[in-house]
Amino acid sequence: MTIATVPTEPITGQKPGTSGLRKKTQVFMQRHYLENFVQAIFDAIGGADGKTFVVGGDGRYFNDRAVQVILRMAAANGAAKVLVGQGGILSTPAASHLIRLNETDGGIILSASHNPGGPDEDFGIKFNMPNGGPAPESVTSAMYDAASSMTEYRVYESHDIDLSAIGTHAVGDMTVEVLDPVADYADLMETLFDFDAIRAMIAGGFRVRMDSMCAVTGPYGVEILENRLGAPRGTVVNRQPLPDFGGMHPDPNPVWAKMLMDEMWGADAPDFGAASDGDGDRNMIVGPEVYVSPSDSLAVIAANAHLAKGYTDGLKGVARSMPTSGAVDRVAAAKGLDCFETPTGWKFFGNLMDAGRVSLCGEESFGTGSDHVREKDGLWAVLMWLNILAKRGEGVGAVMASHFAEYGRNYYSRHDYEALENAKAEGLLSALTARFADLPGMEVEGMTIASADIFKYEDPVDGSVSDNQGWRIVFEDGSRIVMRLSGTGTTGATLRVYLERYVAGPDGLDEEPQAALGPIIRAARSLSDMETHIGRTEPDVIT
Ligand code: G6P
Ligand code: ZN
Repeated sequence: MTIATVPTEPITGQKPGTSGLRKKTQVFMQRHYLENFVQAIFDAIGGADGKTFVVGGDGRYFNDRAVQVILRMAAANGAAKVLVGQGGILSTPAASHLIRLNETDGGIILSASHNPGGPDEDFGIKFNMPNGGPAPESVTSAMYDAASSMTEYRVYESHDIDLSAIGTHAVGDMTVEVLDPVADYADLMETLFDFDAIRAMIAGGFRVRMDSMCAVTGPYGVEILENRLGAPRGTVVNRQPLPDFGGMHPDPNPVWAKMLMDEMWGADAPDFGAASDGDGDRNMIVGPEVYVSPSDSLAVIAANAHLAKGYTDGLKGVARSMPTSGAVDRVAAAKGLDCFETPTGWKFFGNLMDAGRVSLCGEESFGTGSDHVREKDGLWAVLMWLNILAKRGEGVGAVMASHFAEYGRNYYSRHDYEALENAKAEGLLSALTARFADLPGMEVEGMTIASADIFKYEDPVDGSVSDNQGWRIVFEDGSRIVMRLSGTGTTGATLRVYLERYVAGPDGLDEEPQAALGPIIRAARSLSDMETHIGRTEPDVIT
């Protein structure tokens, strides 16, 4: 085996977005593409010499090839050791946990999260820091800089390493330790939740359905829900991770997790349903004919987390992304907790968690998690819900109804307009910006606009500033319209329109969200002149 130094040149567009570098798989398969970016990662973190990393991914097409390349490049760059999940598999939260548990110098995670996989679909790569969380902007821009001036990369010329079984191998002087991807993560969950209470609830006939969408949580769900909690075999469906996710779009929302939604709205629905995404960090929670919006899920967890054994002392504080509804703010106010509003992207929660200021975070984009790792965590949310239901002895619907009765209801929905021409989507937002100064005081749909601005965040821990983080229009009654462009897509632009209206109750807590939000939806369309700019007013996805 020899180390090769391969001459290369910069490849345009290797700029990490909301969550790492995400491109079409074919792009990643181009000559030098993956190698250039992996070298850029090592360069950006001051080299790999003597360091230890975690490597794994969600098993999508090209995951197996990419892991081999990364191992050979880590060895050639002088890394001491790489911990890799068996078969190259690790869910994103499990990777975050392994980085922390083994105190490594970080990890490389291969995933395009909830985007479809396959030779003609999406692939992605990101670096997580020694705290287990995604690299902050300062580090991702250093990667981009390194990629933009790349002249050579280093790689070991060697055979593939056998990752099919647990064991230890060597690549040059570097040790490769192949680990069970599930065991340590499942053990961590047992320290946080009352498995006995959940097991008793399930043994008492409570029926659970978990849809892993042919993605990475299959083996995790089987081990935790079926093996450790005693749910019947078959509780986890679509449990076999597949390189193309069985042709599914592994995004746990009411549109893409249709199979689960149909079951939960059908005759003989289970008591609890959940789905997770490609890499296992997202979740959707549903009860029989009850959809729990991610914003409400965050609020319910904030109100009830003390029922889980890892959180009996209460929460340190909570945080949500700006477009996420204010439902959790009401719980925080009632409990006297600090509540932070951050830009979209889990990486913004890391500093708050590291500084001990928050222990629970969530986003409207089906992400919820705590400071047990530094990623959002789909199965964690599922177990938290099961723990809450077991301790309260209530179903999903009853928990939601009593939550709304106590705190009021933040009706909420997100409308996505996908695959737009970039220029048209940007045109809509710049025209909206130009109107902002005139909006306060204006009346629309019977509501008066109180303010209009573009969200800017100053990190309270390190003082770093992130601007242009979402266009928001707030009405005098607190209702909101937020718009932003997705940072995770790979085709054209996706315009996300977030809609929110608060009802204090006791009346009006049980409306259909799209109906309750009707005036806000119409105001969003007219204020942004949507028809003119993008030629349509009906979204592709409603969450
Ligand atoms: C990823 C990030 C999340 C973020 C989400 C939405 O899943 O990890 O933190 O909320 O993307 O991103 P987008 O830019 O597509 O709205
Ligand atoms: Zn994900």
